[in-house]
Amino acid sequence: MSMIAAFYDNKSILITGATGFLGKVLMEKLFRTSPDLKVIYILVRPKAGQTLQQRVFQILNSKLFEKVKEVCPKVHEKIKPIYADLNQKDLAISKEDLQEHLSSVNIIFHCAATVRFDDPLRHAVQLNVTATQQLLHIASQMPKLEAFIHISTAYSNCNLKHIDEVIYPCSVEPKKIIESMEWLDDAIIDEITPKLIAGRPNTYTYTKALGEMVVQEEGNNLNVAIIRPSIVGATWQEPFPGWVDNLNGPSGIIVAAGKGFLRSIKATPMAVADLIPVDTVVNLTLAVGWYTAVHRPKPTLIYHCTSGTTNPCNWGKMGLQVLATFEKAPFEGAFRRPNADFTTNYFTASYWNAVSHRAPAIIYDFYLRLTGREPRMTKLMNRLLRTISMLEYFINRSWEWSTYNTEMLMSELSPEDQRVFNFDVSQLNWLEYIENYVLGIKKYILKEDMAGIPEAKQHLKRLRNIHYLFNTALFLIIWCLLIARSQMARNMWFFISPLYNL
Ligand SMILES: NC(=O)c1ccc[n+]([C@@H]2O[C@H](COP(=O)([O-])OP(=O)(O)OC[C@H]3O[C@@H](n4cnc5c(N)ncnc54)[C@H](OP(=O)(O)O)[C@@H]3O)[C@@H](O)[C@H]2O)c1
Repeated sequence: MSMIAAFYDNKSILITGATGFLGKVLMEKLFRTSPDLKVIYILVRPKAGQTLQQRVFQILNSKLFEKVKEVCPKVHEKIKPIYADLNQKDLAISKEDLQEHLSSVNIIFHCAATVRFDDPLRHAVQLNVTATQQLLHIASQMPKLEAFIHISTAYSNCNLKHIDEVIYPCSVEPKKIIESMEWLDDAIIDEITPKLIAGRPNTYTYTKALGEMVVQEEGNNLNVAIIRPSIVGATWQEPFPGWVDNLNGPSGIIVAAGKGFLRSIKATPMAVADLIPVDTVVNLTLAVGWYTAVHRPKPTLIYHCTSGTTNPCNWGKMGLQVLATFEKAPFEGAFRRPNADFTTNYFTASYWNAVSHRAPAIIYDFYLRLTGREPRMTKLMNRLLRTISMLEYFINRSWEWSTYNTEMLMSELSPEDQRVFNFDVSQLNWLEYIENYVLGIKKYILKEDMAGIPEAKQHLKRLRNIHYLFNTALFLIIWCLLIARSQMARNMWFFISPLYNL
């Protein structure tokens, strides 16, 4: 019998960010392994014209929750959406919800955040710092609360090369940052942002670091723990391999490469690709929830959830395996043949951006204009290149994260819990994982049927022929121009051409 699974039976759990990538997998695993849990409250806002109930309905009816419905047929009764908006004061939770529902909560998993790297500082502070502070305040009024688990990121201290499982203070106190956001205007905030985030590449990593400080300072009277995952990727094993549903990070790059938009990238092939499967993060999170509630460790423990220390994979190996999977199961209707060239050189990268990305987009838009259609490729390409440039910081560097607490926790688990809540990535086979990841993107994000693979392969063949034809035509045009204008080229041609008749 799993001790962790039994621990969550009969518990009231609160999850923020339950509609996000990590939150959904967390809920799925909880329902599947502890179907007798009492209730999961999720803090959620209406979005894209959907009410809270419609959002829950959509999650429960997704492929991800298929197994849950078998083990926990009453799942729809056990999930209670509560209106909340992290952008608003006190998260806009009503008094009734606080008193009637949230007062019974035993465990909180705080996953909600803005994960946009280029968010203006004001918005990133509101979501990742102020909202965390307010949630801690709400949590401190919950009489039955046993543990508050905060999801941060392994990159919150990416200004350091070696990162321990400790909180590194930022130069300005989070409270002062929160206060200043109330009276500073946007122009001044934009001006001071580079100075505040100094050493970090974006507002996301900076505000996640501030968020950790808030948890440490204001969660003093609570039983808190912080989890720092690296780059969260598709599921490794559970509920099935390769599940993913958003385009953040590597998933976006894989889609862009598979559809032929992105053919080259400024990345260091030998740099560690510190990916961590989402189900591994979820298993660690649930184990931490149990350990924190039962053992109440002091001081606050921080857990690194990374792969590079135990089982490193690099971007070069990952790129090759992604390409190999495209050969087996290409994405449908690709714009060009997928390719993955790596460079660390600024000039080569700029040249590739112009020749391999911007020029084809301009030519394609020209064709769309000629055929009376709306040009859109240049805009799309510019957006893609901007997103990729924000990832460059992370795909050209390697970090070392110590994992003492994570290892300690593993040693505290029973053999059964080590199996059911496995977070040991040393057993992960990267080639298999990456292949499943690419296939998962094809199935669950692009919604492409595997039956369409032969047609997609035919399409790639046509693209390859067009590519060869285009290159040959270009070569001949340049050569003819050279012969017409240069005596040396003519001499060379007269010297070479008899060789063809031998
Ligand atoms: N994904 C990664 O690679 C990664 C790596 C390291 C750490 N993390 C951390 O893991 C956590 C979860 O990330 P994720 O990948 O699951 O992100 P995600 O898919 O973008 O989900 C973000 C969640 O936050 C919610 N949220 C955002 N703004 C909100 C608002 N104003 N009010 C209410 N809810 C709001 C979103 O709700 P809506 O659906 O309503 O937008 C969504 O449920 C975050 O704390 C992130 O920093 C992620």
